[in-house]
Amino acid sequence: MTLKLAKLGRLTTKQAWSIGRATAKICIWNGAVSSGKTITSLFKWLMLIPTAPQTGEIVMIGRTRDTVYRNLMTQLMNREIFGDAADHVSYNRGAPTATIFGRTVHILGSSDVRAESTIRGMTICLAYLDEATLVAQEFFAMLVSRLRVKGFKCQLLCTTNPDSPRHWLKAEYMDRADELGHRVFNFKLRDNARNLEIEYIRGLEAQYTGLWRARFIDGEWTMADGVIYDMFDPEKHVVETLPEMQDILGIGIDDGIDHPAAGILLGLGIDNRLYAITEWAPPAGTTADRSKSLRRFENENPKPPYHFVDPSAKGLKMQLNRDGFQNVANATNGHSLGLGLIASLLSTEQLRIHASCTNLLDEIPGYVWDKTKDGKTKDGEPLKENDDFCDALRYAVASSRGFWLPYLPTLHIAGPMADDRMEEAA
Ligand SMILES: Nc1ncnc2c1ncn2[C@@H]1O[C@H](COP(=O)(O)OP(=O)(O)OP(=O)(O)O)[C@@H](O)[C@H]1O
Ligand SMILES: [Mg+2]
Repeated sequence: MTLKLAKLGRLTTKQAWSIGRATAKICIWNGAVSSGKTITSLFKWLMLIPTAPQTGEIVMIGRTRDTVYRNLMTQLMNREIFGDAADHVSYNRGAPTATIFGRTVHILGSSDVRAESTIRGMTICLAYLDEATLVAQEFFAMLVSRLRVKGFKCQLLCTTNPDSPRHWLKAEYMDRADELGHRVFNFKLRDNARNLEIEYIRGLEAQYTGLWRARFIDGEWTMADGVIYDMFDPEKHVVETLPEMQDILGIGIDDGIDHPAAGILLGLGIDNRLYAITEWAPPAGTTADRSKSLRRFENENPKPPYHFVDPSAKGLKMQLNRDGFQNVANATNGHSLGLGLIASLLSTEQLRIHASCTNLLDEIPGYVWDKTKDGKTKDGEPLKENDDFCDALRYAVASSRGFWLPYLPTLHIAGPMADDRMEEAA
């Protein structure tokens, strides 16, 4: 079986081996980005569908129907990888069902609240779950409990990138795989070397350092520990002179009542690098004082077309709107997205900081992962101390990504990051 499959497409020996062993009720392909998890699990998926009994439903779940389309369906319909089987897959982007080998396959987005009630009422024979760490543990447990067609070996195939070793998927399912009979396959980036260009592999290896390297390149479930931007080097990242800007992207603002308020003005240089152009550091005062201070700042510096404000700073947002500032929007606040983007930009020297941003430059070396585990912070969040300007930078970079990403085409965005949706206007 293994050898025959290895001839299909360009399955590596490890891919084929995992497909041969994927006979358990719960099979989890986990590991590095672009390491072949999705393609491998989809091969298994195509082998399973023709065997499914009519008495059970078949479901494919991603974060949204659109991610199912982009991550899974476009691959399944790729003849170069799946050969003739690709002709037996049909799906219209956004539709609630697809057809694979003549069978109806329900397509669900886990971030859609209706997904849970849909699954609750089902009897499922086969399920496929993309980015398994992103669903709630209760959702996962409920999905498993719906695999209940008598006389058929029901299966759930999942893929995911690594997260914290404390994540429920790791602690409750992967670490207990032997005891509970699950199958777990771990892939590193280099496991898929045969199917990737060497420049692409080197680019990814250069981009991901520290925590991100351990998780996204080596496929390890590692704790977030130590300095967050450990790739930061003043020699490389701090500039005395700014190049001409092709675009001013916006200002990220972290408001503060019992700690300093902070702003970072972000621009895109003509060298296609991002620049923290200057910082706004208002003195302590009322919300109205801060709004006046920001007005002065904007009169003295290039005017930001957008104000990406800490979503919880309701008072300041209201004041800025009242005072006629343009485009006051909620900043994108997902830590993994913002921290990951900045780390990748620093590693590849695509983000630089002007020397006038003295508060930001003071904060970066002491910006560390929170280890207190006080029940309020999650693994993978920064210590909330002296982080105001780092937060403002994160808001500016993450919220404006739609504008600058096209100028930095080699930057790789890992799965969970790519799908974080743009925040709505405040
Ligand atoms: N057997 C194969 N034959 C041909 N190409 C393959 C094969 N396996 C992987 N690839 C190529 O490698 C790329 C990455 O594989 P895949 O999408 O499965 O990675 P992944 O581990 O799911 O990555 P991510 O974590 O980023 O989702 C695919 O887009 C495809 O181009
Ligand atoms: Mg994948």
